[in-house]
Amino acid sequence: MASLGDTQTQAPDRHIGDVILDLQGISLSFGGVKALTNISFDVREHEIRSIIGPNGAGKSSMLNVINGVYRPQEGEITFHGKVRKDMDPHRAATQGIARTFQNIALFKGMSVLDNIMTGRNLKMKCNLFEHALYWGRAQKEEIEHRKKVEEVIDFLEIQSIRKTPVGRLPYGLQKRVELGRALAAEPTLLLLDEPMAGMNVEEKQDMCRFILDVNDQFGTTIVLIEHDMGVVMDISDRVVVLDYGKKIGDGVPDEVKNNPEVIAAYLGTSH
Ligand SMILES: Nc1ncnc2c1ncn2[C@@H]1O[C@H](COP(=O)(O)OP(=O)(O)OP(=O)(O)O)[C@@H](O)[C@H]1O
Ligand SMILES: [Mg+2]
Repeated sequence: MASLGDTQTQAPDRHIGDVILDLQGISLSFGGVKALTNISFDVREHEIRSIIGPNGAGKSSMLNVINGVYRPQEGEITFHGKVRKDMDPHRAATQGIARTFQNIALFKGMSVLDNIMTGRNLKMKCNLFEHALYWGRAQKEEIEHRKKVEEVIDFLEIQSIRKTPVGRLPYGLQKRVELGRALAAEPTLLLLDEPMAGMNVEEKQDMCRFILDVNDQFGTTIVLIEHDMGVVMDISDRVVVLDYGKKIGDGVPDEVKNNPEVIAAYLGTSH
């Protein structure tokens, strides 16, 4: 199995908290296509919870259910002890859920700084009218947002490219900027859809370090979709395995690695 030799491993005394997200019996179909069938699992505060599975297994659909892009036909989602109803991405974001996408979703012509600033949109209280009326208040707010964005830029070590249009950056750095935009929203639950796809080993190691640092320094709970088994087994607290929209495994990395159904369905294939 591929492994990133010097990827940091988790400190043994990490404090995993209570369940903050509980998914029960989730089923989602698109016309005749059953993307998810009766999936149940939970996510605990502060953990790195990975979702793995072959292409088309339903991983991205699962993230889209969590952040309200798709509404499942069946099942119940409890977030911070409350059963969720009528979820949509905006509401999910206001509740502290941020995400990155499998295909980079950034404004390519805009600078790194401005792209990360878009992650602050929800936090901006002053609307256009107030901007015109209360210029001073709007200015103060703008300064605070810029400060937060600069903190994110420092954290991700991208100071030298802060003015560069995103479209001119190599792929690995664009992925890092997308993480920055999600972090600018100061999420409590961060959903990452293949943040290391298409990266070389060095870029993957950097991204791994940032994910671990986000989790460790900000206490952010992370749901991670990733195909690189070395990375997944190294940094995850628990792993859910999907195959053809069904859950075939769930547990700590060692349990999942040794689950025959998982080995047959996923680990045996060349991802
Ligand atoms: N918006 C949609 N409309 C129709 N079918 C969809 C839609 N989104 C996903 N599907 C289907 O649902 C199934 C699960 O897709 P999904 O993208 O969730 O898989 P995945 O595990 O993320 O795969 P990959 O590893 O390739 O990203 C697939 O059969 C896919 O074609
Ligand atoms: Mg996907």
